[in-house]
Amino acid sequence: MAVEQMTVTVMEAVENNSLNLVWTVLDLELKAYAKEHHVPIIVDEGLALLEQIIRISKPKHILEIGTAIGYSACRMARVSGSHITTIERNPEMIEKALDTFKRSGFENQIRLIECDALEAFDLVKDTAFDLIFIDAAKAQYQKFFELYTPLLTSNGIVVSDNMSFHGLVHQDNYETQSRSVRGLIRKLTSYQDFLLKHPDYDTSIFELGDGVAISVKKD
Ligand SMILES: C[S@@+](CC[C@H](N)C(=O)[O-])C[C@H]1O[C@@H](n2cnc3c(N)ncnc32)[C@H](O)[C@@H]1O
Repeated sequence: MAVEQMTVTVMEAVENNSLNLVWTVLDLELKAYAKEHHVPIIVDEGLALLEQIIRISKPKHILEIGTAIGYSACRMARVSGSHITTIERNPEMIEKALDTFKRSGFENQIRLIECDALEAFDLVKDTAFDLIFIDAAKAQYQKFFELYTPLLTSNGIVVSDNMSFHGLVHQDNYETQSRSVRGLIRKLTSYQDFLLKHPDYDTSIFELGDGVAISVKKD
């Protein structure tokens, strides 16, 4: 194809909104930023699963615990058109996430709560959420689950990331890990047990990405 023809095709795609160039560039930039600054963001495989769950379940409101630089919030906003409420406590991350949202074109869809998630319940309690994405301090997953699931609609979904914790959960070399890592592994293992035994949820844990638990609220 001649360059002139390609240019016309790209321009048409942009005009038809089938190619969101702003987001495409920002997506790559955020991934590069996360890598360079060691900010843990959801990995591609886990994100693909999360996006498919959102496409299938079409949530109106999503609650995210752990915004970081705003990457997954934008990806969720982009795939669903849903309203996203996302909670972050780290001031540096908050500043970067606000910039991300402004530049992404999804600013009107996303509300950032600048607070520790364990203290933010009163700020979000008036909203019913169809999906909760837990991706923050690993030692506190069960607390987040217990605090926010009363706001989940019937048949609502909880997605918990990092169930494998970089492959460390269920590995044979547990004893050789540091005390703090062993503590986190114990917490994550106990959280998975809690999810699998929870009488009000059907949970499956997928070993893709960094390990993702999908819990669906029973009717
Ligand atoms: C794994 S990162 C989130 C990545 C993001 N969801 C993504 O995939 O783009 C976890 C974030 O949760 C934040 N965080 C951890 N514990 C928190 C808490 N109790 N309340 C609010 N934010 C918390 C951390 O500051 C960090 O930025």
